[in-house]
Amino acid sequence: EVWNPNGKYRVISTKPMPGTRWINLLIEQDCRVEICTQKKTILSVEDIIALIGDKCDGVIGQLTEDWGDTLFSALSKAGGKAFSNMAVGYNNVDVNAATKYGVAVGNTPGVLTETTAELAASLSLAAARRIVEADEFMRTGLYDGWLPHLFVGNLLKGQTVGVIGAGRIGSAYARMMVEGFKMNLIYYDLYQSTRLEKFFLKANGEQPVTWKRASSMEEVLREADVISLHPILDKTTYHLVNKDSLAVMKKEAILVNCSRGPVIDEVALVEHLKQNPMFRVGLDVFEDEPYMKPGLSEMKNAIVVPHIASASKWTREGMATLAALNVLGKMKGYPVWSDPNR
Ligand code: DGY
Repeated sequence: EVWNPNGKYRVISTKPMPGTRWINLLIEQDCRVEICTQKKTILSVEDIIALIGDKCDGVIGQLTEDWGDTLFSALSKAGGKAFSNMAVGYNNVDVNAATKYGVAVGNTPGVLTETTAELAASLSLAAARRIVEADEFMRTGLYDGWLPHLFVGNLLKGQTVGVIGAGRIGSAYARMMVEGFKMNLIYYDLYQSTRLEKFFLKANGEQPVTWKRASSMEEVLREADVISLHPILDKTTYHLVNKDSLAVMKKEAILVNCSRGPVIDEVALVEHLKQNPMFRVGLDVFEDEPYMKPGLSEMKNAIVVPHIASASKWTREGMATLAALNVLGKMKGYPVWSDPNR
């Protein structure tokens, strides 16, 4: 699909993106906008090289694509100076390779904070109250009357929510659970973020919440009833939750992951779910997307959704707009909105 065919700058989006604001922004700045409408969900490196062709000024790409040396070299050869991931996470982007080829990289933080935190909250509630199991029970015609033991779950009020990774999203989630459901909070941040601390210090006196910054991740795993993971994915957070860390958690704990799949060792998780039927998980992301490790889909104590944490209309349009601004910014000589290398 091509917009403004005579535009001076050639900008490619590897996928159609929601809304039209991002397209209009690019057109206003004299871009020819080419949107790849291939049916294939995940484009290969070869597919993208073919899209880039001989002349390309900027690309908006997706988290499912492998933006490494090969693609940045191809983009740079085609005259490209800017790339934006339509995502806040950029573990699929080799920023060093981009820098080597003189391509600026942007991501799309901010606009997805609340939407992603809301999904983590939804999964926490759905797991605590066994909503998916109960829904399936109704639909399969098994309900034959109220019973005292039917789908008994956990009351969140007064329980402890544990947050691992207290950046923008982890902090928004923590505030939702503390303010909305009156949970106590314990959190751990690998980068010693003080974002949450500032929030609660400001609110001190107004809210009777109990919160504490843990001195280790293990402390969170040991004490929390609901644990939500919000770190970035890198070498230090790969399999952060593994057989040993699962063993530390309470037998009836709830684990939520809306960050990146490989943060959890999914094989160990499946085993843990089998051994501990009262342990529940809410997963938005998976180790080898789009696949799940064998056995996970059969577990009644797991809720699984297809990487939709940022999927609200407002957010997805915002992400597309930011991605366009990132690419435009570099082409026009403005600072890139969010450059992880900045
Ligand atoms: C991201 O932005 O990194 C999410 O995984 C998708 O919105």
